[in-house]
Amino acid sequence: MEQRDRWATKLGLILAMAGNAIGLGNFWRFPYQAAVNGGGAFMIPYFVALFLLGVPIMWVEWVTGRYGGKYGHGTLGPTFYLMARESLKPRSAVIFGMIGGMLAFSVTTLLNSYYLHIVGWSAAYTYFSITGAYFGKDSVEFLLGYLSNNMQVFIFWGLSVALLGIAVGQGVSKGIERWVKVMMPALYVAAILLVLRSLTLGSPVKPEWSSIKGFEFLWEPRFSEVTFKSALAAAGQIFFTLSLGMGIIQNYASYLGPEDDVALSGLATVSLNEFAEVILGGSIAIPIAFAYLGPEKAIAGGVGLAYIALPNVFMRMPGGQLFGAVWFLLLWFAGFTSAIAMYNYLTALLEEDLKINRKTGAAIVFILYLILGLPVVLDPTKATLDLYYLTELDNWVGSYLLVVLGLFDIIVAVWLFKPDNFWEELHKGAYIKVPGWIKPIIVYIAPIYTIILLLGSTRDYYKAGYFKAVPGYVGAPEYANWVWFARGMMLFILIIGAIEAYFAIKKKYAEELEK
Ligand code: PHE
Ligand code: NA
Repeated sequence: MEQRDRWATKLGLILAMAGNAIGLGNFWRFPYQAAVNGGGAFMIPYFVALFLLGVPIMWVEWVTGRYGGKYGHGTLGPTFYLMARESLKPRSAVIFGMIGGMLAFSVTTLLNSYYLHIVGWSAAYTYFSITGAYFGKDSVEFLLGYLSNNMQVFIFWGLSVALLGIAVGQGVSKGIERWVKVMMPALYVAAILLVLRSLTLGSPVKPEWSSIKGFEFLWEPRFSEVTFKSALAAAGQIFFTLSLGMGIIQNYASYLGPEDDVALSGLATVSLNEFAEVILGGSIAIPIAFAYLGPEKAIAGGVGLAYIALPNVFMRMPGGQLFGAVWFLLLWFAGFTSAIAMYNYLTALLEEDLKINRKTGAAIVFILYLILGLPVVLDPTKATLDLYYLTELDNWVGSYLLVVLGLFDIIVAVWLFKPDNFWEELHKGAYIKVPGWIKPIIVYIAPIYTIILLLGSTRDYYKAGYFKAVPGYVGAPEYANWVWFARGMMLFILIIGAIEAYFAIKKKYAEELEK
């Protein structure tokens, strides 16, 4: 058997994992999630979820990935099958392989299909900052104008996806690892530059609006706003920001050697991401927006904060062209180094299960992402920034499926694989000894927490009308067909994912399955 690709250096591995986790979630999703969910008080359920869910599941995923890699698998179907087989007959283990493969395939195709668009917007806005294109214009109008020009959207999006394809096509050690070694240090430099700018802004508009006030506003504990709902939001943010429940931490860990450390490296990934989220991410967007726009406009969530509120600020800020470019370049690097992991998952799937060579596989994935991203461009509700297709996918794939997969992570890699085996794997080649009292957290508390999160989100989604034919967020019912299109797409991809996993397992383990 040919040698499976492996990370060439420890530094490269850690930067790749940090790049995987550090994404738009840190600089764009985290600040407004924190701001609307109780500011400083949000951080209490956030840190609880970090310790009870984030760290445990991060370890589970590293262990899972390295285990699968030993048998030549970088995807969840065959890996879950092998782990579940520790307790189950092959025929039952296949079920878990299919569930894992189905969920990871769906997340890596669908989540990335719209995430790549936002990566493309970031590239475009980097360019528009340098040229000052949005300066002196209405920021909402400008974004709408940009989105309505399909040719332009296509250029920046297509270019970003093409660069990803080139990097992934070069391989893990020769491609991804080399790219992140340049991009991640650049990302940190950009972020630190922006933090320094942010914290020295003073009060350019009103004395009560300085960036420091914005910083205080973000961190001010508004305990009354800490509700069950905000605790769910905090736990959901932990999943999203650490790239958990997506299959991509496992995929990256599958390129480890069988004796490479996972315990300390998993912890390092969490630490690097949290530094980039809580310290850097919390000190840029909201304080900058606050200084110029005041509290209400600063916490405009979603697309608004990064692509409307901040452009509005850069055009008035001294050196705005430069800082605008640095901000959007930061988002681009952050998005790129996360999207590359999803891209690699699908390339690995083609490589391992269908024996398609990496370069061809990367080209196929390029075309796949362009096709799957097309509905986002064609969706008529982009004209009002409602983006029904994208929103529907994001609600289910980007917030919900992750948690479902997180639960199966534990069911398969801890319970079915057996807690003692898991604990042994975690310590194989480990640079640290994980204290024994953490074991029950991984075996019992994390799955219970995940189930509560799942039930709570289901209830909230139900209440918000997400289960309806015309969901709660749809303001223009005549376009509800785009929501149905998204639902059909999800169903289709889930089915393909399950079938793919089944054949991938069968192809390699047919003999034992027949027994
Ligand atoms: N952890 C990533 C982030 O914070 C999440 C992600 C990974 C999203 C890969 C898309 C693709 O943005
Ligand atoms: Na992140």
